[in-house]
Amino acid sequence: MNEAPAPQGRHTRGRVRLVAGGAITVVTAVASVVVATLAHADLSGPPGTTLKAAAERSGRYFGAAMGGDRLGDSGFLTIANREFDMMTAVNEMKPDATEPNRGQFTFGAGDAIYNWAVQHGMRVRGHTLAWHAQQPRFWGSLSGSALRQAMIDHINGVMAHYKGKLAYWDVVNEAFAENGSRRSSNLQSTGNDWIEVAFRAARAADPSVKLCYNDYNIENWSYAKTQGVYNMIRDFKSRGVPIDCVGLQTHFTGGSSLPSNFQTTLSSFAALDVDVALTEADVTNASPAQYQGLTQACTSVPRCVGITTWGIRDSDSWRGSENPLLFDRNSNAKPAYSAVVNALNAATTTVPGSSTPPSSPSTPSTPPSTPPSTPPVTGQPGACTATYRTTGSWGGGFQGEVTVTNNGSATLTGWTVNLTLASGQSLVNLWNGINSGGSGAISVRNAAYNGSLGAGASTTFGFVANGSSSTAPGDISCTSP
Ligand code: XIL
Repeated sequence: MNEAPAPQGRHTRGRVRLVAGGAITVVTAVASVVVATLAHADLSGPPGTTLKAAAERSGRYFGAAMGGDRLGDSGFLTIANREFDMMTAVNEMKPDATEPNRGQFTFGAGDAIYNWAVQHGMRVRGHTLAWHAQQPRFWGSLSGSALRQAMIDHINGVMAHYKGKLAYWDVVNEAFAENGSRRSSNLQSTGNDWIEVAFRAARAADPSVKLCYNDYNIENWSYAKTQGVYNMIRDFKSRGVPIDCVGLQTHFTGGSSLPSNFQTTLSSFAALDVDVALTEADVTNASPAQYQGLTQACTSVPRCVGITTWGIRDSDSWRGSENPLLFDRNSNAKPAYSAVVNALNAATTTVPGSSTPPSSPSTPSTPPSTPPSTPPVTGQPGACTATYRTTGSWGGGFQGEVTVTNNGSATLTGWTVNLTLASGQSLVNLWNGINSGGSGAISVRNAAYNGSLGAGASTTFGFVANGSSSTAPGDISCTSP
């Protein structure tokens, strides 16, 4: 990246291209139980004393990026677990890592990060599906419609594996040049519509994940590249191209720094009806003032859903010589850490949808393990049955689990559970299934990986809902094709 001149004297820098050596044939299964925490905003609550607690007060997340090698680094893992509630893989979900050879998908490295993150109550951002860098080697020998098809196949293959599991996907990364036109690349050479084709394929592959465009040097509102990306998003929105979010990398390193109009940029993108997020933040010498400013810009814009730093300690940074992160090499929080926590705690806006009902307190950071507070409700017998139990509750919200059982003697190839949430209850998040509807009568069908149920077998899906748990969801039934 960054081949082109950058604003404020950004340095040119080459990427280290990852070359996946040898054929990796082991595909590790993604953990079947996804434990995702979602913040319930409450600005009147006590200040958070960690990054994630401070962010969750306003319904936001605080994320980090990690490489697979950090899974063996207890210093890193301790801070990650304590401070962060969103994780991005540094390289492990990129095109060269996930499809080193045509049609041969390898998810072991990405899954290891995914599994660790969800087992520690975090959500995961997928990064990235289509990019001019870190491409599979075989893309290099393709062009035109063959490369276009390889991109679509890649999106389908990777998104099928992570279907229903991720919070966001960076569908397209860094497709603009510094002058605001499209960056020239082999993907751009397949036709100017390659980006919208990628987003349409992504929406079809996994309707449950938010689809983002991600780029750097789009933080300054008066910069040509920012305007180029803005115009593309506006055009996509006007034509119904599916896009849900814009990721601003926020690398205030390599010669860039915080622009005074950053909040204007965020609110302008948000006005196009997309979420915005700071996806790869780092700041030269971890300037507390710049970290404070970038945090405040986000917390002042309701649709700014969270901030991710690109690593945790300076020793994790791709630009380590600039010491740009919130923790030093000895795992100590730096002055910028306090600046960020304080700015998060001073948030003046909450993320839309994160604070209903208004009195809802924070969701516990780990799912409650209290015994069922309501008796199980069992649906009609048939090919499959569905049984609901409440697995935890707190003032203003609860967590539920539905067990789907195949009572027949033949294997089921899919299932759909219908249930009715009581008045005042609404879904916040659902995992291990795909829902339609979020309140009243809702229907949940199997995810790609748990539709097949042998005779007598069962599976579960779970959800977090706003509202009182005193009335269990009713009218529960299960059907199978
Ligand atoms: C970087 C990684 O941190 C490096 O390990 C790798 O060698 C190159 O890529 N923008 C992005 C990220 O979208 O994927 C890049 O990550 C940093 C810049």
